[in-house]
Amino acid sequence: MEKCGVLIGKTNDELNDVTLCKEKELRELVEKYSQQHIFGHWDKLSKEQKAYLLNQISKIDFELMKRLTEIWIFNTPKPEVFNQIIPIPVISLNSSEDSREKEAYDCGEETLKLSEVGLFMVAGGQGTRLGFDKPKGTFPIGPVTKKSLFQYHAEKIINIQKRYNIELPWYIMVSETNELDTKNFFEQNDYFTLKKSNVIFATQSMVPCLDERGKFMLESPYSIAMNPNGHGGTIQTIIEKGLMEDMENRGIKFLSYFQVDNWAVKVADPRFIGYHVLNNAEMSSKIIRKNSLREAVGVHCICDNEYRVIEYSELDIYPQLLELNPDGSIKFYAGNPAMHIITIGFVKKVYNRFKDFPWHRAHKKIPYIDDSGNLIKPEKPNGYKFETFIFDALRYTSHHPVALEIQREGEYTPIKQLTGENSIESARKSMTKMWAKWLKKSGYNMDEYIAHREHYIEITPVFALTEEEFLKKSRNFNWQIPSTSFAIDEQGNLITT
Ligand code: UTP
Repeated sequence: MEKCGVLIGKTNDELNDVTLCKEKELRELVEKYSQQHIFGHWDKLSKEQKAYLLNQISKIDFELMKRLTEIWIFNTPKPEVFNQIIPIPVISLNSSEDSREKEAYDCGEETLKLSEVGLFMVAGGQGTRLGFDKPKGTFPIGPVTKKSLFQYHAEKIINIQKRYNIELPWYIMVSETNELDTKNFFEQNDYFTLKKSNVIFATQSMVPCLDERGKFMLESPYSIAMNPNGHGGTIQTIIEKGLMEDMENRGIKFLSYFQVDNWAVKVADPRFIGYHVLNNAEMSSKIIRKNSLREAVGVHCICDNEYRVIEYSELDIYPQLLELNPDGSIKFYAGNPAMHIITIGFVKKVYNRFKDFPWHRAHKKIPYIDDSGNLIKPEKPNGYKFETFIFDALRYTSHHPVALEIQREGEYTPIKQLTGENSIESARKSMTKMWAKWLKKSGYNMDEYIAHREHYIEITPVFALTEEEFLKKSRNFNWQIPSTSFAIDEQGNLITT
């Protein structure tokens, strides 16, 4: 067997030998933390499988898992107590009359033209609620064109690059579970005509799931059930996976952070960037007005002088957050749609606090292998996944960050499931409504069309990213609006199914 240690220039087989060399050391570690059951099928494993398991073990932060077990499994964590919770100051939607609005927009455009903005998209999630077995970004969201979510985001980038004559680097956080499929999808689609060197993937870390006794679970005889460490992993990934160096080499100062599953998201929005820059903010957020007291979105607020986002599942712990204003409106209305501008200096600063980030626990149905090697698919939650959240970085800002109110339509269509709230279906309806309004403003009678609820519209962001751009370009066309679903392509051709 090879001597342990030197990895460079080795074949896979030799690498496996190097990993196997660590068996004794890793077994001791696993025993120290009472997780030795994960070697239960060891004798039946092939050399590759043994190496796979040992490799997984070598990446686990056992001290962290011990801490999580003590906090969450052997005890019930006490909720934080706050003496005072107050609403955050918000730049509201009607501030368009405000003279700063134009100043912010111009400043944002200037920042973009200086190539100081990069895009950071989180796409490492498991997308369990959607039940789609490929990365969520590959979902054919376009009802007519079947274009994927990835392609839609790419088309927005194509438009912005052309508009400002810039190159926008697109950082994409993936996880071990979807990395290969995501990269292959970009390859197969020729990076949607973007420059390959401007699409930068980085893989976030994974954490083991725990069963209800705090034990690791095997998802196969040779692999531990793990999940990506949450979108808070952004901070760690930027620093530890070499993205910060890439950003600095490109002169990037600000990141436009968004989630892959928000089809409508305005990436690199000049207005948002501008407010962030003018306020010298470290991390800014867009906010949506909650449409009900208990809407399932986090709430931005200030708790004992610290900026926080409180999860909707914690509303009953902090009943102040359910208070109404004297006129009956929601007092803490600032819902979190997960869109941020982050100064890269702040990423460095907050990385030093990453170990203090709270871990959030979710009780889930986690398939596992039993002692006889049978795969069990539980019918009710049987274990826990632990994640960090990006919005927990907000508490480390040194002055109160910008919170910019937005309208949902045209900006917020999260896709969590196939039908119902926050679904493929609701996103398609919302986008159709917005694009129908654009057409109506261009002089087309869309009333009958909109009444047909099963019809959808798509307008590629390469043709028009904004209503203003659409109104300008549409003057050159005289479309015959069909009585079926339709799309408008890059050249302005109207396509039906
Ligand atoms: P969600 O928390 O909605 O999770 O992620 P999800 O994976 O999309 O779906 P479920 O909960 O399993 O059904 C919000 C965004 O954060 C990303 C997701 O890819 C999505 O864009 N994310 C989430 C990560 O990048 N990494 C993670 O560890 C978790």
